[in-house]
Amino acid sequence: MSTLQNKRILLGVTGGIAAYKAAELVRRLRDGGAEVKVAMTRAACEFITPMTMQALSGQAVHTSLLDPAAEAAMGHIELARWADAVLIAPASADFLARLNAGMGDDLLTTLCLATRAPIYIAPAMNQAMWDSASTQANLSQLQSRGIGVFGPGSGSQACGEVGLGRMLEPTELAERLAATFSAGTLTGKTVVITAGPTREAVDPVRYISNHSSGKMGYALAEAAREAGAKVVLISGPCHLTAPENVELHQVESAEQMLDASLTAATNAHIFIAAAAVCDYRPASVSEQKIKKQNNNGSMTLELIANPDIIASVVAAQPKVYSVAFAAETERLLDHAKTKRERKGVNCIIANDVSAAGIGFNSDDNAVTFIDETTELTLDKRSKSQLARALIDLLAEKSKKTKDKAL
Ligand code: PMT
Repeated sequence: MSTLQNKRILLGVTGGIAAYKAAELVRRLRDGGAEVKVAMTRAACEFITPMTMQALSGQAVHTSLLDPAAEAAMGHIELARWADAVLIAPASADFLARLNAGMGDDLLTTLCLATRAPIYIAPAMNQAMWDSASTQANLSQLQSRGIGVFGPGSGSQACGEVGLGRMLEPTELAERLAATFSAGTLTGKTVVITAGPTREAVDPVRYISNHSSGKMGYALAEAAREAGAKVVLISGPCHLTAPENVELHQVESAEQMLDASLTAATNAHIFIAAAAVCDYRPASVSEQKIKKQNNNGSMTLELIANPDIIASVVAAQPKVYSVAFAAETERLLDHAKTKRERKGVNCIIANDVSAAGIGFNSDDNAVTFIDETTELTLDKRSKSQLARALIDLLAEKSKKTKDKAL
């Protein structure tokens, strides 16, 4: 599978003759499975039309910071947050200077300021402009701030001169971008992930459950797959489609999730418990629909504790690197640390589920990773982006915990 599969690429196009190659670049990125949105500077629109880029990307093209229609569809901050990576190709000398200065006077510079995604630039300019002290100073400062630089290549230029300054070819740019996404960190490993809620039947038509959508667990499954792992996803009831090439086991109750988990854990290297398992279930399930009773408007349901799935996995497979989540509404880190000890897991992901816009059923999340030596907060971002960061971290941590990992 391409490492660009399902990646969200924001392609910035600036003004230069190489802008015509951006059209081909959109195609190459999409061939790799990426979703591409294009933002163009005013100068770029002099070289290639937004219409062309729209037709090739299949998406509305963004050209202005102050366009109410575009902002209503997807605001610039939302666009900046949407991206998994930002690629500026071609990046003109003027754009490099403005990016380095931290300008925010047009859409593309503002997007670069606002995004948390990695930024890559593919410079394209006349060889003397490339060689100039200003451009080189801008470039080295941008690189020192973590901005990746692809190229430029050398050869004959549109201006008739020969030298460094040609934008790399679209195929090479797509390959270079693909290579920046983590690939292979979990090759040969099996990762088991629980996701979604459990449902605990009360009678044939009613159940107890919670607000988990499964988004976090499914995003982790996809990220682990992208990192090369064999992934077993044990999912409670939810409306999501499992990522490609992931082994899906659908379950309803905590007891079913426990059975599937213990079986899958026998071959696992990493077990991630992202599911929101109901702690209790009705002591007995009525065979018939329970009738409304005339008992002063109240009814009592006896509940009994469900098995603790992740603690059972740790007990049965102590060599598996185990990861729990802690969904908390108060004293997040304290409660998470206590839970980590109680469940005996290698690490716990503390998830504040009281904050608006993260946690249950939202597209974004923010968490703190906690293990014996590390307490690392990953601030708010899409669940896909967070999942990739977590999988990278778990791959590294599980490798270091040699006595625990198989
Ligand atoms: O699904 P989403 O809408 O995307 O939301 C994501 C999420 C908020 C559900 C997820 O990020 C999360 O926090 N999952 C854990 C939810 C939870 O039930 O947390 P807990 O603190 O109650 O449980 C602690 C850990 O023990 C969890 O790893 C849980 O899977 C596990 N557990 C809990 C009870 C039980 N009987 N068995 C378990 O294995």
